[in-house]
Amino acid sequence: MRRREFLSSTLAIAAVSLAPRSTPAADGLVEILMNEPVGDIAPELHGHFTENLGGVIYDGIWVGENSKIPNLGGVRKALVDCMRQLKTPVVRWPGGCFADSYNWRDGIGLRAQRPVRTNFWINDPALCQAPDGPQKFDPNTFGTSEFMRFCQLCGAKPYLAANVRSLTPHDFDEWVEYCNSPAGSTTLAQARAADGSREPFHVTYWGIGNESWGCGGDFRPEEYATEFRRYTSWVPDYGLKLRFIGSGPGADADDAQVAWTRGFLEGLLAKGPETLDRLYGLSMHYYCGTSGKGDSLDFTVDDWYQLLGRADVMDSLVTKHWLALQEFDKQRKVKLVVDEWGTWHRGPAIDPRYLFSYVPSMRDALVTGITLDTFNRHAEKLAMCNSAQLVNNLHTLFLAREDRFAPTTIFHVFDMYKAHQGGRSLRLVSNAPAISYGTRKALWGLAGSASLHGKTLVVTVVNPHASEPRVADVVLRGASARSAQVTALAAPNIHAHNDFDHPQAVVPRIEPANVSGPHFSWIFQPASVTKLEMELA
Ligand code: AHR
Repeated sequence: MRRREFLSSTLAIAAVSLAPRSTPAADGLVEILMNEPVGDIAPELHGHFTENLGGVIYDGIWVGENSKIPNLGGVRKALVDCMRQLKTPVVRWPGGCFADSYNWRDGIGLRAQRPVRTNFWINDPALCQAPDGPQKFDPNTFGTSEFMRFCQLCGAKPYLAANVRSLTPHDFDEWVEYCNSPAGSTTLAQARAADGSREPFHVTYWGIGNESWGCGGDFRPEEYATEFRRYTSWVPDYGLKLRFIGSGPGADADDAQVAWTRGFLEGLLAKGPETLDRLYGLSMHYYCGTSGKGDSLDFTVDDWYQLLGRADVMDSLVTKHWLALQEFDKQRKVKLVVDEWGTWHRGPAIDPRYLFSYVPSMRDALVTGITLDTFNRHAEKLAMCNSAQLVNNLHTLFLAREDRFAPTTIFHVFDMYKAHQGGRSLRLVSNAPAISYGTRKALWGLAGSASLHGKTLVVTVVNPHASEPRVADVVLRGASARSAQVTALAAPNIHAHNDFDHPQAVVPRIEPANVSGPHFSWIFQPASVTKLEMELA
């Protein structure tokens, strides 16, 4: 975006008013059915993902204890502060594709003595052209104990992904032992103590590989099912309920990926129905990609709708894979784990070493709102979801380079939506004129999700229209609002974004709203994400 355009958008953001409302005629409806609970929204549905990839770990999270950048034992303090603000429930690590190349033993012991290894992503053409550094040759200064420290500082649970492609089940057992064996009990418990933690880390979430149909081993589904059984049988649990997550389908909305889900479950059950008890969750990945030039900030209005339309595919993907799961799990014990999701633009990178990085805009903020609403609406089917990736990467919440740090538009949506965590998802029905785009494509005019927390009702709504506000009747079927507070992330320019020079260009606005009763009217700004928090009578 050009400077003049940027300045005008910033001024216009400041001018957006949430104050209603001489109530023009409604052209939309947002209806919350209080007597139709869907399920509880596990806080883990709003989780995150970090990988030794580009600038995520080195520079993003880890700056080192001797850095002039404010840090907590080597972890970037500004990041921790924001993660605490988000009430971050869970963080996944070390990959991604990197996980199936990673030997956890390289990342324990004295940092100065840890081996330097070639990073999995070294052959990526974009990284090849970047200067050498920890992004190419990993010094392993960020290992298991550093990741656990990061999680503890953030107040988040850890979710580790095992290496199925290039290590063995024995190595996996010993990683579990390093993490979870009682203080002083084994040589690996002593190694953990020497790394700073006498007490076990109590890791319960364990991914058995990553994208095992691709970078995680190039398996056929039935072959991976055998590996899953091997890796998950007789793992020492140290009194914990270990939650094993099977590597599931990836990326596209096509039938081949449902074939993976079916093939894996058939293979798993081939030895008997009890094997299903070992599967806590089935992972699935979906990146909604990019369109047009692939540039995160240079896009047309049609590109805007194309991307939002692709984000909306998550809804049918969750349903599709859930139905496939039901063919094998009649009791609905196994849930879906969407442990990678987000937009995948092709740049421009914020630093040549930060592979896959770009500056997100309002477009990516709306993708975030659409996706988190989808997860909330399907709360009964999902155990965990992890946005990919946390910092300096795809769909990033933060930009961090040296001593500069900026929360992106995506961060602000997560911050708004944290109010849903732990609530009871309620059925929300929305209706508004559909938006036509491309050749014969259409996108809904309003969508959202709702959750109940005692006497507080939280409703979030996305208006995807690039330029038109939507006036909606908000109807509470079976309840009445006493008061409300509204938070809106809205920018009149769809390209608006935060970056190092303008970290506050787009921020949500909060103000009390003069609404009450079982129904009222609300104007949803163009290209916006809105949260209504209502105290019920
Ligand atoms: O998030 C980037 C990569 O995308 C991950 O490493 C991989 O799992 C996926 O294909």
